[in-house]
Amino acid sequence: MKTITVDASKKYDVVIGAGILDVAGELIRNARRLTAPGAAAGGAVAGGDGATAVQAAAAAGAGVQGVAGAGAAAGAAVQAATAVQATAAAGAAGADGLGEVEPGAGAAAAGGQGAAVAGPGAVAIVMDDVVAALYGERLSGSLAKCGFHTCEFIFPHGEASKNTDTFLALINFLAEQKFGRGDAVVALGGGVTGDVAGFAAACYMRGTGFVQIPTTLLAAVDSSVGGKTAVNLAGGKNLLGAFYQPDLVICDVSLLSTLTPEVYADGCAEIIKYGVLADRALFDSLITPVRDRMEEVVARCVEIKRDVVAEDEFENGGRKILNLGHTAGHAIEVLSGYGVSHGRAVAAGMAIATRAAVRMGICDDSCLREVLAMLKLYDLPVGARYPADKLADACLSDKKREGSGLTMVFPLEIGRCVLKKIPFGELESVIRLGLEE
Ligand SMILES: NC(=O)c1ccc[n+]([C@@H]2O[C@H](COP(=O)([O-])OP(=O)(O)OC[C@H]3O[C@@H](n4cnc5c(N)ncnc54)[C@H](O)[C@@H]3O)[C@@H](O)[C@H]2O)c1
Repeated sequence: MKTITVDASKKYDVVIGAGILDVAGELIRNARRLTAPGAAAGGAVAGGDGATAVQAAAAAGAGVQGVAGAGAAAGAAVQAATAVQATAAAGAAGADGLGEVEPGAGAAAAGGQGAAVAGPGAVAIVMDDVVAALYGERLSGSLAKCGFHTCEFIFPHGEASKNTDTFLALINFLAEQKFGRGDAVVALGGGVTGDVAGFAAACYMRGTGFVQIPTTLLAAVDSSVGGKTAVNLAGGKNLLGAFYQPDLVICDVSLLSTLTPEVYADGCAEIIKYGVLADRALFDSLITPVRDRMEEVVARCVEIKRDVVAEDEFENGGRKILNLGHTAGHAIEVLSGYGVSHGRAVAAGMAIATRAAVRMGICDDSCLREVLAMLKLYDLPVGARYPADKLADACLSDKKREGSGLTMVFPLEIGRCVLKKIPFGELESVIRLGLEE
């Protein structure tokens, strides 16, 4: 298991490992913001002595048996109780130093250095129908074991659900469930789930707890980290959204084994993107299939994203580099009525940007050959069937337009990219350069 800490406006951990869905309850209970003020994070579980929340949760994960074995009687009580009952159980156990409990936040305490562990009283698990059938029960079981009240919001899978209807239905669901700010929305799923759930968490009561549990490769390496949340409007993709960082990301790479080849390839497109924009060694390593070393590759991509986000959380400058392939990519998604998946669209967009870069003298032909070969290795598209004028038009509804132009990302070489502002009047010809075989 590996933990990567993202230091943005909110500091949070990305925990990556195999099989960790089953300890999601412990991990969430010990996450920074989801812990009540004054509580010694994870103390009850790990016998806390200043261990970080994640270390403590790791200890818990290493053996929930460890709770009993360590003689943490109150800890055991916490596991069996609901959030509210847990407070009483802790009191009965005579624990001191229980932090002040905010409305909506369940709390539990245990012996040992006056440690208190608190978590949100309720958790709304947001997932699409496919993921709900595969993993819903395991997650709710893990949460229930830790005393959380859980409820589930399930919507039909696919990009078509990433809209204001799903968003509003989720918001109303949270209100019906009498959710408070101290409760948490948990997104169990791919990028669609994370984007909708994250936007709802950002808006409901001006911000509730939010946990991402990515179940697609794309969500693991990209969308679950960095705090971009959004839904699509008729006028374009991701037009309604917010920057809202999660409190915790739990990435169980074993969940990726059930992905279809197409959804797996979508994630690989984003991984190739990271290699092209920031890491030659990562790019070269992709000759060995990603599926054979998921944990290592996911961790490297998250590190790259962490570094970029730490420098420019709100995408005023450097973060735009992550949009390699996204300008033409978003246009392809929109023109196809979202029939082309995000990952495949980004792959095509990356090929278009790299071809254009060669013809504009930004990079040399060998870079293009390498990018195209790698995309083909993962069965990803290297072009689009839409004409340049239609693509340029669709790009103009992209939220990344600024003033008189639009910033595009071009490779300089594998591992290094550059941002260039393209005036609106030149966009069509740049895209045409990128489409010509
Ligand atoms: N917020 C960001 O920073 C960011 C970054 C990149 C992409 N995105 C967004 O992410 C979305 C694409 O994400 P995606 O590709 O994960 O799509 P997705 O969420 O629609 O998932 C793709 C499909 O995989 C299924 N699935 C999910 N997990 C599975 C599993 N473990 N086993 C089997 N099937 C599973 C889903 O049911 C769905 O049918 C786009 O909307 C894109 O705009 C957001």
